Amino acid sequence: MIIETPRLFVKPINADDKNDLKMLYKDIKAWNYLGGARSPENIETGIKEQIYPSEKDVYWAVRKRDGTFIGNVSLTPHHDGEYTEISYIFLSEQWGKGFAFEAVSEIVNYAFFVLNFEILVAETQSANSASCKLLQRLGFTEEKRLMRFNAEQILYIRENHVCSNSFMSAGRGNIT
Ligand SMILES: CC(C)(COP(=O)(O)OP(=O)(O)OC[C@H]1O[C@@H](n2cnc3c(N)ncnc32)[C@H](O)[C@@H]1OP(=O)(O)O)[C@@H](O)C(=O)NCCC(=O)NCCS
Repeated sequence: MIIETPRLFVKPINADDKNDLKMLYKDIKAWNYLGGARSPENIETGIKEQIYPSEKDVYWAVRKRDGTFIGNVSLTPHHDGEYTEISYIFLSEQWGKGFAFEAVSEIVNYAFFVLNFEILVAETQSANSASCKLLQRLGFTEEKRLMRFNAEQILYIRENHVCSNSFMSAGRGNIT
């Protein structure tokens, strides 16, 4: 299943994405609010988890239409167990161009309209203003604040009937 947006392709991760995932793990800026730089062992484990996901996890690679890898998006069980969490990491050189919004809004659509989820959650450090802004633009609202991984986190939630203006105007991608 490949999702096309005006500028991007969003495709489930496979073994061909290994080197691009390595590059993403080595982008220290991208891991600033996610626990910082990873050890080589942790990177190997993380890449394996994405290439060979458990049946509850889905990982997508996001590429520009010319094939350039720019980031990933995932749906995985949330730490607290009840709901599915949407997460995303983009190469720092690709921030500020609207690519994350374009890709993540399509995965939100996919979760609600193809997988028929009722609720999606996202957890992000309150200090991570770019991530908080993205979630708000996607129609997520703050549910609560909590401490996890030695930092204040905001749990955001979106029910599938909520359509923010920016989400509606993002334009629906094609699923093939
Ligand atoms: C969180 C993250 C994905 C946000 O990326 P981003 O590029 O800021 O997000 P968006 O795609 O929504 O882009 C928004 C910015 O692009 C600008 N932009 C430029 N062209 C645009 C376009 N065509 N469409 C929309 N926005 C555009 C917007 O004005 C906005 O800029 P601003 O932040 O100065 O207001 C990114 O910071 C990241 O990967 N961080 C590291 C990983 C992480 O922390 N993940 C969160 C935990 S799960």
